[in-house]
Amino acid sequence: MKLLVTGGAGFIGSNFIHYWLRTHPEDTIINIDKLTYAGNIENLASIQDDPRYTFVKADICDKNAVEKVVKQVDLIVHFAAESHVDRSILDPEVFVKSNVMGTYTLLESARKNGNIRFHHISTDEVFGALKLNTRAKFSEVTPYDPHSPYSASKAGSDHLVRAYFDTFGLPVTITNCSNNFGPYHFPEKMIPLAITNIIEGLQVPIYGDGLYVRDWLYVEDHCRAVDMVIGKGTIGQTYCIGGMSKDVSNKEVVQLICELMGVDFEASAKYIKDRPGHDRRYAIDWSKIKKELGWEPQHDFKTALSHTIQWYRDNESWWKRIKSGEYRAYYQKQYQAKS
Ligand code: NAD
Ligand code: DAU
Repeated sequence: MKLLVTGGAGFIGSNFIHYWLRTHPEDTIINIDKLTYAGNIENLASIQDDPRYTFVKADICDKNAVEKVVKQVDLIVHFAAESHVDRSILDPEVFVKSNVMGTYTLLESARKNGNIRFHHISTDEVFGALKLNTRAKFSEVTPYDPHSPYSASKAGSDHLVRAYFDTFGLPVTITNCSNNFGPYHFPEKMIPLAITNIIEGLQVPIYGDGLYVRDWLYVEDHCRAVDMVIGKGTIGQTYCIGGMSKDVSNKEVVQLICELMGVDFEASAKYIKDRPGHDRRYAIDWSKIKKELGWEPQHDFKTALSHTIQWYRDNESWWKRIKSGEYRAYYQKQYQAKS
């Protein structure tokens, strides 16, 4: 099979390409990526000369560039997006462009070139927020209620994908997953930010009271779930993917990272001003994908977090290059005024 992966130089996209070439050695992949601040071609250095892999630097909003690559493939796996909530609060426009218009451009091209199979990667953030200390979980039937420009733009893209199935019969599937973590995670997100700040001897910023809850999913488990939905999922359906079976607050995540890294939490953490519109709690009911496709997470949180910490210890040059570039200006803007 010939795949087009969008956003393959980002965190999850690059993990997915490595995963797919390992598990489907007969397939070929074209990776289309604009290489925004979050795209890092270094993530794919080990396969750059692999004859099964081709990289195309282009924007998914560029109709001509998209058309050229879409014509060559059997399946599109769509990861490319602006993905960071805090950046969507600082500057929403690019989120609407890439996440809504970019998805539209790909869908149009898929439809005009013979209704190419389309798998869309989305997020649990489209469902809004759950209350603390309840057993409520997001599932495939939860109504959409996005709160940030990021999640609103992802909700828009999900609606477009469904509309192309209902209106044009485009063979689509959608996955809405929770917070991924693992290797190649850009250090603006909470877990890699905490790990790399601790290695650098810096404090870990915790927003608000730190009692916010996320459902943490190891990226390899996510890649396997997407593989199963592509292979066995029902066309037109959505599948929710999550990694946890109990709530863990951000404070507890940072406490665990501190424990695993051998530093004192009280000295290492710093509570700062909250994120506007901060969703209180996410939790995923992943029983549909378990029942229909037999998927469940294989990595427990603590062990996967230890592996992730080790990866950041072993790959200091990877994240130090990122942290010394454009990232520094972002970090100052995002954190200095809030301390
Ligand atoms: P990321 O920010 O690490 O990577 C995004 C990639 O997309 C980058 O390589 C970037 O260069 C590329 N890109 C952005 N805009 C583009 C454009 N207009 N044209 C071409 N390429 C473009 O993101 P990620 O964390 O790997 O997330 C991947 C996908 O998964 C996104 O759709 C995101 O919404 C979704 N998702 C992420 C998480 C998570 O925890 N990271 C959870 C749920 C869903
Ligand atoms: O739920 C899926 C989503 O998970 C994805 O759709 C997004 O692309 C991905 O970025 C992620 O969004 P979050 O906003 O949940 O991730 P982030 O790592 O930014 O924040 C996780 C939690 O930690 C959140 O409650 C905010 C908090 N936080 C974050 C940062 C960056 C802090 O307390 N301090 C921080 O410095």
